[in-house]
Amino acid sequence: MNYIVANWKCNPDSVKEAKKILIGYKKGIKKSKKAQAVICSPAHLLGLAKDTLKSLAAVGGQNCSWENCGAFTGEISAPQLADMGCGYVIVGHSERRKFFGETNESVNKRVKAALAAGLTPIVCVGETREERIEGKITDVVELQIKEGLKDVDLCTTKIIIAYEPVWAIGTGQACSPQEAGVVSQFIRNIACDKIPLLYGGSVNAANGMSYLAEAGFNGLLIGGVSLQPVEFNKLVANAIAL
Ligand code: PGA
Repeated sequence: MNYIVANWKCNPDSVKEAKKILIGYKKGIKKSKKAQAVICSPAHLLGLAKDTLKSLAAVGGQNCSWENCGAFTGEISAPQLADMGCGYVIVGHSERRKFFGETNESVNKRVKAALAAGLTPIVCVGETREERIEGKITDVVELQIKEGLKDVDLCTTKIIIAYEPVWAIGTGQACSPQEAGVVSQFIRNIACDKIPLLYGGSVNAANGMSYLAEAGFNGLLIGGVSLQPVEFNKLVANAIAL
């Protein structure tokens, strides 16, 4: 099973535009046991995504609170996402780490809350450009996994890790499948051999399959290109055909 996950980030800027993208998905996504499409839209669009796509795709949040409910202005909780029909939630995306103070410790609390609510967390790890230049890729990824997934049994828990080199996100400079493949093997060695691993960072319809076919990944986390339904649908179709 390959996961083709759309990360819409804080896009699009209107419900009208969101409807267009969802209708575009609906026209092209075929249901298959070989690939699961997961749409992680902004929270206010999750209901619309679910109603439009029904069983064609799962939906997921882009973050969740470690608290279940209460006085936490601006947060959305894991039980709230589950109640809306989400099956997944992205946790620890590099943009959350960079702009909103997310740490490995807060990632760990959010992951535990997601698991308790029955969601599958998609936990993002990856090094910055400076860390890569300094030769620290595996050190950084190892710490993110050790601390971010502390006390979580990675072989028995339904959890997904997404390797997203920060320098490859939104830059058009995807990590080569060879280099990403070395990291995917490293993650399997320190986490669990069978854990589903996604690659993310400037994925498009042309380069996407090489990560699945050549680099040992079980899916893709797609930002910019997920807003283009024709391209996104090609990725789902290609993953089914693989
Ligand atoms: P990108 O984003 O595909 O636009 O590089 C990926 C991500 O941030 O998840």
